[in-house]
Amino acid sequence: MPFQIIVGAQWGDEGKGRIVDWYAAGADVVARFNGGDNAGHTVTVGEQTFKLHLIPSGAVHPKTIAMLGNGMVINPATLLGEMGVLRAAGLEISSERLKISYAAHLITPAHKALDQAQERARGKASLGTTGRGIGPAYTDKAARRGLRMQDMLDPAGFGEKMEAHIEEANRRLKGLYGADELIPRLLVQEYREYAELLAPYIADTSSLLDQALDSGQTVMAEGAQGTLLDLDQGTYPFVTSSTTTAAGAFTGLGLGIRPVEQIIGVTKCFQTRVGSGPFPTEVFETTAERLRGTGANPWDEFGTTTGRPRRVGWLDCVLLRFAVRVNGLTELALTKLDILSGLNTLRIGIGYRSGDQEYSQLPLGPADLSPFQPVYAELPGWQADLRGLRRWAELPEAAQTFIRSVEKMAGIPVKMVSVGPEREQIIRVEPA
Ligand code: IMP
Repeated sequence: MPFQIIVGAQWGDEGKGRIVDWYAAGADVVARFNGGDNAGHTVTVGEQTFKLHLIPSGAVHPKTIAMLGNGMVINPATLLGEMGVLRAAGLEISSERLKISYAAHLITPAHKALDQAQERARGKASLGTTGRGIGPAYTDKAARRGLRMQDMLDPAGFGEKMEAHIEEANRRLKGLYGADELIPRLLVQEYREYAELLAPYIADTSSLLDQALDSGQTVMAEGAQGTLLDLDQGTYPFVTSSTTTAAGAFTGLGLGIRPVEQIIGVTKCFQTRVGSGPFPTEVFETTAERLRGTGANPWDEFGTTTGRPRRVGWLDCVLLRFAVRVNGLTELALTKLDILSGLNTLRIGIGYRSGDQEYSQLPLGPADLSPFQPVYAELPGWQADLRGLRRWAELPEAAQTFIRSVEKMAGIPVKMVSVGPEREQIIRVEPA
């Protein structure tokens, strides 16, 4: 029963979509275990580029079954839109191929309004959320007053619950934040329509996944965001509200603990971050512009969900080692190696300094990175354009040295590197 987990090893946006797409070619089921439409996974297949927020990236393989796990928070409008986009591209999105956990929670316009009101109220201390209602939806889940997909199966009861939810949210919106109230009647009507459309897809995904694994099928668990945005392990409070690390695959899919064949961490060859919070290896001006791109290409460093320019910096191996540890990563997939071409000197963060002290690992996890200055190793760059290369032996020596240095710092092998957004722009790394 091959069970694989793919997670982001950084602050999200590592290029998981294209790596999941690559692995999903051999998977029977791809199941997403956390987050909501704060995520944006880009997959390029031939002429088509899909930007998926909720449906697992593996769904672009016509035979793979896609599941949305109980650990997710789902905005039904986004989901229905995405189903439409995939259908328009000729993919079958039937209730046989798409399954949504009955226990996944719903995101409503009240959650979005609360997210935005809370961010405004935080002022300068805002978290830089995506404004998609993620935090308030998980808050309602933990407070045991959330709406679940299962509620959509009982139209009369659902209407009442939805109305009560909007009224309760209105009290918070108005009372705490002085924000506009929402009109319950209109939202109940809207969500009843979504319920009718989504009901056929609602299933016991936990049981289906268990059966799939028992019958020897390959299941790939797809995480959203990245390790450093994990609610417990990340750079709290500048995190998202779900478990983004590998253990979340078990709780977020309703699976009992079982052996995992591979836990793949996806990391860029550099570092990016959207939203607020400390970022020790952050760079600015020319190098930043060089790493970020201009925004002209879909793979430039601008948010898939928000369009915000991402903060960029050098690869931080202190944080990478942390990600290896808290996820139990068995291997790395390194993305965007092609972007480093043309830089004369490359830097990798290998440690931190604070006053006279040097650290090779974090003294107290990544919660407060603000006291630290990075310690860098410098490596020679390369000039060659890598985008057309497909084999390890073709890579410039400096690029191979860069990859070997990352392996050494992380303590696990890099199994593949991407040299462009297309499906075939992947190079298998030869074992060291
Ligand atoms: P939220 O998930 O919208 O509550 O946002 C919390 C933090 O996580 C903010 O810093 C967001 O920018 C960040 N974030 C959420 N989802 C993603 C993602 O998919 N990629 C990168 N950052 C994300």
